[in-house]
Amino acid sequence: MSAEEKASKQQAVLVTGASSGFGEATASLLAQRGYRVFGTGRAPDRNRAWGYEMLPLDVRSDDSVRACVQGLMERTGRLDVLINNAGYELAGAVEETSISEARDQFETNFFGAARMVKAALPVMRKQKGGRILLVSSLAGLISVPFHGFYSASKHALEGYAEALRHEVKGFNISVSLIEPGFFRTNLARAARNSIETVSEYAGMRERALKAFVRAVQAGEDPGLVASLILTVVGSRSPRLRYRVGKDAKRLPRIKALVPEAAFEAGVRRNFHLDGQEGI
Ligand SMILES: NC(=O)c1ccc[n+]([C@@H]2O[C@H](COP(=O)([O-])OP(=O)(O)OC[C@H]3O[C@@H](n4cnc5c(N)ncnc54)[C@H](OP(=O)(O)O)[C@@H]3O)[C@@H](O)[C@H]2O)c1
Repeated sequence: MSAEEKASKQQAVLVTGASSGFGEATASLLAQRGYRVFGTGRAPDRNRAWGYEMLPLDVRSDDSVRACVQGLMERTGRLDVLINNAGYELAGAVEETSISEARDQFETNFFGAARMVKAALPVMRKQKGGRILLVSSLAGLISVPFHGFYSASKHALEGYAEALRHEVKGFNISVSLIEPGFFRTNLARAARNSIETVSEYAGMRERALKAFVRAVQAGEDPGLVASLILTVVGSRSPRLRYRVGKDAKRLPRIKALVPEAAFEAGVRRNFHLDGQEGI
């Protein structure tokens, strides 16, 4: 066993949303590399061999978060790495989305992560160190049409993490954002759509959502995100932001370089907002 593997063996890692997609790929990879990994799901299949310990967790509930961190502490006595990954995609025009649907989106994607951080920080401060990773998105840097509240929840994570990083640096706790582009996971299959529809958006919505689903289905392998997370977890001084996947690396650079109107025209073209299909 290498020195790195020996060191990692003592580290306890909690990965939220490890029943599928990035969470599952990450929890599996870290467990293979010798970390003591706890994954979570809202109703994890008890009959399945996950390759890591599975704890029940619904990030929308204070009680569930408390019970999850307590359960982990009873088993390990420490929490070295928290990977906030749980999330879902809410689709629909902003006008079509009810405030209650928008709140639900934030309750999972933003407050869910904030709840986990609040539960983990006292433990990490006491331990005099820890690592917090937040799975944001390319949508946290560039908003996606017909995903206004999903994009807003990821932009919120970006702003929150930047402030948090300053606050906990002195406690030897690092905060990093993982910003994936499009990847083949269950994200689009598990997506929720706003219940209300406004007919004037119908054609545009359909074309934009088709383009989004196509991009996720044709996306890259989630193992790439897991490998990046493995590197961040093992890094001596993790950075604030990590972009992963070709679109996440390319598009923010283009956005910074080209005039705003040209970039907007590109987004409209890619999501076929003005009627054209087939790019
Ligand atoms: N796929 C992409 O292209 C992409 C790109 C950028 C960012 N992301 C982000 O990556 C993260 C993981 O998504 P994914 O693509 O891997 O999708 P996924 O395959 O659908 O996985 C989502 C995970 O989140 C969990 N989850 C959902 N609601 C939860 C809740 N209330 N409490 C606890 N866990 C909950 C699900 O677990 P249960 O249903 O078992 O509870 C599942 O394990 C999300 O934050 C997503 O926004 C994805």
